[in-house]
Amino acid sequence: MSLILGLESSCDDSAAAIVGSDRRILAHAVVGQNAAHQPYGGVVPEIAARAHVEILPGLIRRVIDEAGVEVAQIDAIAATAGPGLIGGVMVALLAGKGLALATGKPLIAVNHLEGHALSPRLVDPDLDFPYLLLLVSGGHCQLLEVAGVGRYKRLATTIDDAVGEAFDKAAKLLGLDYPGGPALEALASEGDPAAVPLPRPLLGSPEPHFSFAGLKSAVQRAVASGQHRPADIAASFQAAVIDCLVDRTARALETSDAPALVVAGGVAANRAIRAAMAGLAERNARCFSVPPAWLCTDNAAMIAWAGAERLAAGLTDPLDAPARARWPLDDAAERVRGAGVKA
Ligand code: KG4
Ligand code: ZN
Repeated sequence: MSLILGLESSCDDSAAAIVGSDRRILAHAVVGQNAAHQPYGGVVPEIAARAHVEILPGLIRRVIDEAGVEVAQIDAIAATAGPGLIGGVMVALLAGKGLALATGKPLIAVNHLEGHALSPRLVDPDLDFPYLLLLVSGGHCQLLEVAGVGRYKRLATTIDDAVGEAFDKAAKLLGLDYPGGPALEALASEGDPAAVPLPRPLLGSPEPHFSFAGLKSAVQRAVASGQHRPADIAASFQAAVIDCLVDRTARALETSDAPALVVAGGVAANRAIRAAMAGLAERNARCFSVPPAWLCTDNAAMIAWAGAERLAAGLTDPLDAPARARWPLDDAAERVRGAGVKA
């Protein structure tokens, strides 16, 4: 059994955790920065990076104390090395390098997306490779075949906005605070999902790619019309997103033999999305796995766990491992051309 310290600071959550290779979560702590970013309606990279510098060291102290371990008992340091806001990424990565240097223990430079991708295996010991993964977060919306640690084949991605980004933009249009996903979900529960006709971009198209920009514009028009209750717009938006996620994932399932369907990333905290994807798995005779909500949104337990999986596979990193703003899980995947494809 080995103990892994995980560190995360790639967006607006500072997090530290200590996880065992036997799947025990000895301690984990997350401190968000919503209040600092709320006045701007989104994450301000410079503010986030400075906050990580202030918050992260105290969180490392806290999880070591809560776990009741000595620093010397930790077997490896796993730190997110990208992708993300580069100023933030550098904070956890450099903290991890300092600890690795001081303790002589190996450094594991973790891809944040691999943290999300492997997170279901931390709590579901029966989830074996391969599985089809719907990765839905603030920065990504992808379908990936996960063949093993470090082995990802991207089947689809978004041609414009990520799904979490769409939730956040729709929420902003509805006057909800950042981050809008959880607030929009709460408002949607009071509305009628059939009240506002909204588009389902790319529904039925042969490649399982996603698109959400048109949906966001339609929400903008629905809000501006003044004809609908905000709760009805929220519920209709969420229903449209779910139709897209289910249709696109169903398309990918047609070409995948993977016995399990898995959903991970911040948007997988959404209860309606979890239920819809569970139904899709059942209709297609696949096992279904989704982590608890706290493990879907950004945290360091998933980074520590990805570290445990990589350590077990003999994958550690040198102290000059780079911090990377962009770091696709599948390097071979082609850029998808769309209306507003991002770098
Ligand atoms: O994985 P995550 O915490 O950070 C990234 O790596 O991006 O995902 C954050 C995203 C945000 O866009 C947030 O609004 C969305 O996940 N989110 C949700 C819910 N909880 C978080 N979206 C819809 N419903 C939720 N309950
Ligand atoms: Zn994330």
